[in-house]
Amino acid sequence: MTREIGELRAGVVGTGFIGAVHVEALRRLGVEVIGVVGSSPERARAKRLGPVVESYEQLLADERVDVVHLTTPNQLHYPQVKQAIDAGKHVVCEKPLAVISDQSAELLRLAVERGVVHCTNFNIRFYPQVQQARALVLGGELGAVWNVHGGYLQDWLLLPTDWNWRLEPEKGGGLRAVGDIGSHWLDLVQFVSGLRVESLLADLATTIPVRRRPAGEVETFAAAEDIEREDAAMTTEDMAHVLLRFEGGARGSLVVSQVSAGRKNSLRFQVDGSKGALAWDSERNEELWRGYRGRPNETLLRDPALFAPEAAPRTTLPAGHAEGFAETFKELYRAVYSAVAEGGPPVVNPDYPTFADGHWENVLGDAVALSNRERRWVEVTS
Ligand SMILES: NC(=O)c1ccc[n+]([C@@H]2O[C@H](COP(=O)([O-])OP(=O)(O)OC[C@H]3O[C@@H](n4cnc5c(N)ncnc54)[C@H](O)[C@@H]3O)[C@@H](O)[C@H]2O)c1
Repeated sequence: MTREIGELRAGVVGTGFIGAVHVEALRRLGVEVIGVVGSSPERARAKRLGPVVESYEQLLADERVDVVHLTTPNQLHYPQVKQAIDAGKHVVCEKPLAVISDQSAELLRLAVERGVVHCTNFNIRFYPQVQQARALVLGGELGAVWNVHGGYLQDWLLLPTDWNWRLEPEKGGGLRAVGDIGSHWLDLVQFVSGLRVESLLADLATTIPVRRRPAGEVETFAAAEDIEREDAAMTTEDMAHVLLRFEGGARGSLVVSQVSAGRKNSLRFQVDGSKGALAWDSERNEELWRGYRGRPNETLLRDPALFAPEAAPRTTLPAGHAEGFAETFKELYRAVYSAVAEGGPPVVNPDYPTFADGHWENVLGDAVALSNRERRWVEVTS
C-alpha cells in the first residue's frame, strides 16, 4: 500500500536538544507528531513541543503512530528500540544505535525479522555538499582514493565544570568522544568514499581525569553556574587519535576531541585521490573545496543548478540562501518516510542510514576500544 508522507504520523521520545530538532523537521515535512514522551510528563510539557503522551508504553499502544523516534540518552536506545520493534513500529534511533555491538546486532536482526523501516540518525550525510562530495568521488572525479583524513572537534567539555549525562558511562556508554561524535565522522567518510574501514589503531586520552559534577540533572549545552558540585572521576575519553586502513588500500586518520577551544562543532574531512582532492567543513557547510595539481583550486558554493543529479534533489533553497543543520534532519526523514509510505524497507540500497550502518559503527567502536586497550592495530570484523 502506498501512502503520502503527509499522511504518516510520528511519536518522539526525548525532549532535549535533538528531540526538538526531530519534531521540527517532521512538521516541516507535513508529518503529524502525535505525541512526545519525556523523562516525565511535566518536563515534557514544559518544553512545549506538542501533545505530551504520559508514557512510552502509551505511545507504542497508539495505532495511529507509524514511526517512533528515539532521542534519549544512549543507554536507553537498546531497550526502547526493542520495545518499538516489538510493537511493530518503524524506528528512527539517534546515534549511537547501542553502546555495544552485541546489542546493535540484535536490534538489526529484530528489525529485519519484523520487516520495519529502521534508521540510525546519521543526519550529516544529508548536508547537500556531502551528497555532492559522494557523487563526485563515486563518479570517479578524484580518481583512485588513497587518503581520507580529518577530524571532529568541539569545545563544550573543555572545562572541569562542564557536565552532561554523556560523561556517565551508565548513561552514555563506555566510549564517549568516539561514540558521540567520532561515530558521525567515521560513518560520513565511509559514505562519501564508498570504502569501508578494514583495520585501525586508536589512542584515547582523558585530558580531565576528575570533573566537578553538579548535584542535579543538566541537559545538553545548558548553562550551569553557581550550583552545588562534587568530584567525579572520569573513565571515558575526551580525545582520540585513530589511524585507519580502508578496503582497497586507502589510508586515513581522524582526530576527535570535545576539549578543543574555539571549535564549536567542527567536522572536517578531506579525500585525496590520484586526479584531485576535495574537502568539507561542517562549520562552512555551504562550501565544497576542490583541489587540483595543474590548475587553480575551486570552492563550489551550494547550488542545486551546479550539483550532480544524485545530490541536487537533496537541497531545496536556491543558491545563496543558506541551508544548515536542521535541513539535514528534514532530508533524512524525507528518505526514511518515503520508505515507510511505500510500506516497508527497500530490498536493496536504502538511500538513508539503517541499523546496519548503526551496527557497523558499534563494531568500529568496539575495535577502537580494543585497540586502545591493547595498544595495537585491530582488524575490524562484523
Ligand atoms: N544526530 C545528531 O546530530 C545528534 C546531536 C545531538 C544528540 N544526538 C543524540 O541524541 C540523543 C539525545 O541527545 P541530546 O543532546 O538531545 O540530550 P539531551 O540531554 O538534551 O536530551 C535527552 C532527553 O531525553 C530525556 N529522557 C531521559 N530519559 C528518558 C526516558 N526514560 N524516556 C523519555 N525521555 C527521557 C531527557 O529528559 C531529555 O529531554 C543521544 O543519543 C545523542 O547521541 C544526536
